[in-house]
Amino acid sequence: MPVSQRRRIPRLIGSLLLVATAGVGCGEASADSGGGDSRGADGKAAAAEPEVRPLGRIIPVPASVTPEGEPYTLTHATRIGIDETSRESRAVGRYLAGLLRPSTGFPLHIVDEDAARGGIRLRLDREDTGLGDEGYRLHSAPDGVTLTARTPAGLFRGVQTLRQQLPSAVERRTVQQGPWKIAGGTITDTPRYAYRGAMLDVARHFFTVDEVKRFIDQLALYKINTLHLHLSDDQGWRIAVDSWPRLTTHGGSTEVGGGPGGFYTKEQYKEIVRYAASRYQEVVPEIDVPGHTFAALSSYAELNCDGVAPPLYTGIKVGLSSLCVPKDVTYDFVDDVIREIAALTPGRFLHIGGDEAHSTSHADYVTFMDKVQPLVGKYGKTVVGWHQLTGTKPVEGALVQYWGLDRTPLAEKERVAAAARDGAGLILSPADRSYLDMKYTKDTELGLAWAGTVEVRRSYDWDPATYLAGAPESAVRGIEAPLWTETLATTDDLDVMAFPRLPGLAELGWSPAETHDWDTYKVRLAEQAPRFDALGIGYYRSPQVPWPGE
Ligand code: ACM
Repeated sequence: MPVSQRRRIPRLIGSLLLVATAGVGCGEASADSGGGDSRGADGKAAAAEPEVRPLGRIIPVPASVTPEGEPYTLTHATRIGIDETSRESRAVGRYLAGLLRPSTGFPLHIVDEDAARGGIRLRLDREDTGLGDEGYRLHSAPDGVTLTARTPAGLFRGVQTLRQQLPSAVERRTVQQGPWKIAGGTITDTPRYAYRGAMLDVARHFFTVDEVKRFIDQLALYKINTLHLHLSDDQGWRIAVDSWPRLTTHGGSTEVGGGPGGFYTKEQYKEIVRYAASRYQEVVPEIDVPGHTFAALSSYAELNCDGVAPPLYTGIKVGLSSLCVPKDVTYDFVDDVIREIAALTPGRFLHIGGDEAHSTSHADYVTFMDKVQPLVGKYGKTVVGWHQLTGTKPVEGALVQYWGLDRTPLAEKERVAAAARDGAGLILSPADRSYLDMKYTKDTELGLAWAGTVEVRRSYDWDPATYLAGAPESAVRGIEAPLWTETLATTDDLDVMAFPRLPGLAELGWSPAETHDWDTYKVRLAEQAPRFDALGIGYYRSPQVPWPGE
């Protein structure tokens, strides 16, 4: 497979803006990467949009939409009302103001709810159990907008809806021409699945904290609530572990193609976790064992069965490495790593990989996983593993991430389905549907094609509930869209592979099954184009989508 040897290209001006504003506090909107002119990342002029976007014409499509009456218009006098007794409600209010101020030029003062008559009110109603953990209700009329949720997370998801109802120019970071109208009516919305994830592989190519924050902001727009970070692989170890320092000083010193690599200090990792939390996203750290471990094996000779450290690896083959299963030191190592990473991670999950362990015998794999899975529980976390974990017995409560394809042997599919019937939770990431690094067509410059090519429609047109035959629907916790980076070295590379597939996968995770329909989805997706442009997101203009201006 051709590997991109391109050096990182100089960042676009929009990305420089991001760096200049990085590190904004929890709960405030970052300046993101919006360009300041009226041209998109592809150089095309933004298409004209209707003055009022019809209620609910957003991604993910809401569960219930009732258009009614005239729109609300944001003005210089609009205030944002919050529940002053809730620190998190204030943080969501500040985030919303941070999103809207640069493009509207309005002050959007944040005041107590009662003082926001005629404005946008964020209401916490802890009794409204019908809205669940992330649901919200948005009511818009000429005399005000009210967003109601049971939790601050619900308010945050509702803010994304409010944002998408406004013209795309709202995403720009310089003052734009209004009017800023939100269609009248009511949206009531709750997610289909509790787990709606995306994965970023920071091991094959390293991405800085600011680059990860940019990705987090993209996920937030589509109501994704889980960021899975693939933190270790053959080509690099990306997270500081105090008890094994060479993992990063040596194991983090390169990447695919021989570039400089990098790693996160503990403070930097905590900064990512904090930023994700401010967008109501849970970070799932992954340490991939027992395979995918050259970076660790090269850092510590004693982890190898022959006691000899191999050189660092910068190619893209898989299945060539294994921790030494019979050695006790292997479990001291894994225990230390899990302990230190669990201590940095407020989220529930710790992902232990387990895929493509082709250099580990089956007996060794079973021995290894039987010893390692309990270590995750020992440090208070729930095991997540790639679906090869079903080759042994997943511990109680474990989540299994299925990444098979249509052509995956039936026996393998059935093994995963049987584990689900036995109580394992399922995260669905079918590689020939949800892998964001698969080429769209054979002519796509970046990406890989081992799972086939995955056009936009193919990535959208499947149903998580029935995808894995024999697995009970109740086992499906949700979906995840992995972005592997063997061929992706820059944020421009990430953008053009994630977009426009990511919004469709987010919709599969959020929207009710009965709303699923390619023909209406593709129109809503086309309407996102000026928003991608305003945010400085370069995307693949799939011929399957009726993009504006074509
Ligand atoms: C994987 O794609 N190896 C999980």
